[in-house]
Amino acid sequence: MSTYDVVVIGGGPGGYNAAIKAGQLGMKVACVEGRETLGGTCLNVGCMPSKALLHASELFEAAAGKEFATLGIQVQPKLDLVQMMAQKAESVAALTKGIEFLFRKNKVEWIKGWGRIEGPGRVVVTDRDGQQQTLSAKDIVIATGSEPASLPGVQIDNQRILDSTGALSLPVVPKHLVVIGAGVIGLELGSVWRRLGAQVTVVEYLGRVCPGLDDEVAKTLQRSLTKQGMSFKLSSKVTQAIASPVGVELSIEPAAGGLAETLKADYVLVAIGRRPFTEGLGLENVGLSPDARGMLANERHQTSTPSVWVIGDVTSGPMLAHKAEDEGVVCIERIAGHAAEVNYNTIPNVIYTRPEVATVGKTEEQLKAEGRAYRVGKFPFMANSRAKINHETEGFVKVLADERTDEILGVHMVGPSVSEMIGEYCVAMEFSASAEDIALVCHPHPTRSEALRQAAMDVHGAAMQA
Ligand code: FAD
Ligand code: NAI
Repeated sequence: MSTYDVVVIGGGPGGYNAAIKAGQLGMKVACVEGRETLGGTCLNVGCMPSKALLHASELFEAAAGKEFATLGIQVQPKLDLVQMMAQKAESVAALTKGIEFLFRKNKVEWIKGWGRIEGPGRVVVTDRDGQQQTLSAKDIVIATGSEPASLPGVQIDNQRILDSTGALSLPVVPKHLVVIGAGVIGLELGSVWRRLGAQVTVVEYLGRVCPGLDDEVAKTLQRSLTKQGMSFKLSSKVTQAIASPVGVELSIEPAAGGLAETLKADYVLVAIGRRPFTEGLGLENVGLSPDARGMLANERHQTSTPSVWVIGDVTSGPMLAHKAEDEGVVCIERIAGHAAEVNYNTIPNVIYTRPEVATVGKTEEQLKAEGRAYRVGKFPFMANSRAKINHETEGFVKVLADERTDEILGVHMVGPSVSEMIGEYCVAMEFSASAEDIALVCHPHPTRSEALRQAAMDVHGAAMQA
């Protein structure tokens, strides 16, 4: 039996960062991963391949549509889907190999196979040939991630009815893609296939897109995606989907009940959320049981069995790679006896559509519910010189600050490159900055980041450029 200080189960952003941190702190550490490659959902079938296709499809549409022509560039692009998929696969392979390199560098042992907890401090790993080995550890970190949620009456086969993994590797551009769920996966992957030529219809149970997102931001995003050609059927539920070798027939009803209608598609993407993954993990052997949503509870990453820890998608909080990463690092620091915390209030959220969405902190809806007095500063990209010169004027920056102290409580942006700009406000909020602090800081001209400063100035009605 091999003995470790820490055994991490799962090699995604939560698990691999935890394992690397443990190695850096001089712990003897193993990371158990059942997939053939490291990196988890994020690197293999999530963040990275989706961003590869979003980038490529955005350029394709810019070249194929009016955008290049407006700039005086005449081209007639031709889609090479095989090459688009190949470059995606190549980048993903390079990234997963990168984690292998980091494991070697930080003395993390990668144990290939599926881990099962047999009792406190004991993990049995079964490899793909059925060979078993037992690992013993002072502490076990569960970082087993999540899987797509399923919908009764809609059987995912990844032939015609797809989850996100299937929708990242379609062999052809669908004629009509129906997306169930107007959340982040539905809008990102719906955008990819629409840009490449598909008709895309998004069916959403609620009366709005992206629940949880600032209302004004969500409306602006939906308006923009509609203008781009995406159709939305809100307040609607899919009750059945019947797949055949040539397509899918869906039954759709109003969410509140009423007459059903039929919708035909050649592919359907089910994107109604993800659920924690703990199958076959042996939680019962350490007295743990997930809640009704499959979620494993934690108290600052520690479960009710003190030597078993839990991080990432499999536990509470947003299902985001950077949240899993932070939890991985902090969990190991705590195992090492150091003081460490994740500040959940400054975890950003980004949707990589066009325009992009980027938010951090509280929404107006949340502040109203809390009864907290706040001021709003807003600045439209229409008034930002760089956005104007680049013909990317959709969207705005909205800053919410405490009415009394001026502390920044939330920032909500929709517009060009906002994913790259939200970090400024994460740092500001981490240091409890006021809107005035940002308003007083010189920003380079001409950049879209000037809109961040102008929105902060507008909190006190003093924006200079709009
Ligand atoms: P995971 O990445 O799911 O890793 C868990 C790993 O554990 C898996 O590799 C699994 O094989 C392994 N495992 C499970 N059980 C066992 C076991 N018993 N033994 C051994 N191994 C096991 N987040 C963002 O922040 N930004 C994005 O742009 C983004 N885009 C996304 C796009 C898509 C299409 C999807 C599906 C997700 C996206 N996410 C994004 C979410 C992000 O992928 C997850 O939040 C992140 O991967 C969670 O990390 P994790 O380590 O908790 O779990
Ligand atoms: P989601 O929670 O973002 O959206 C699901 C949507 O489906 C919601 O709008 C919900 O109201 C709707 N819905 C639920 N049941 C439905 C039903 N029966 N019929 C119609 N609509 C229904 O979940 P999604 O898009 O599947 O993504 C899962 C998670 O993956 C996200 O929550 C996010 O944490 C992560 N992710 C993050 C990305 C990013 O950071 N850019 C990109 C992709 C995924």
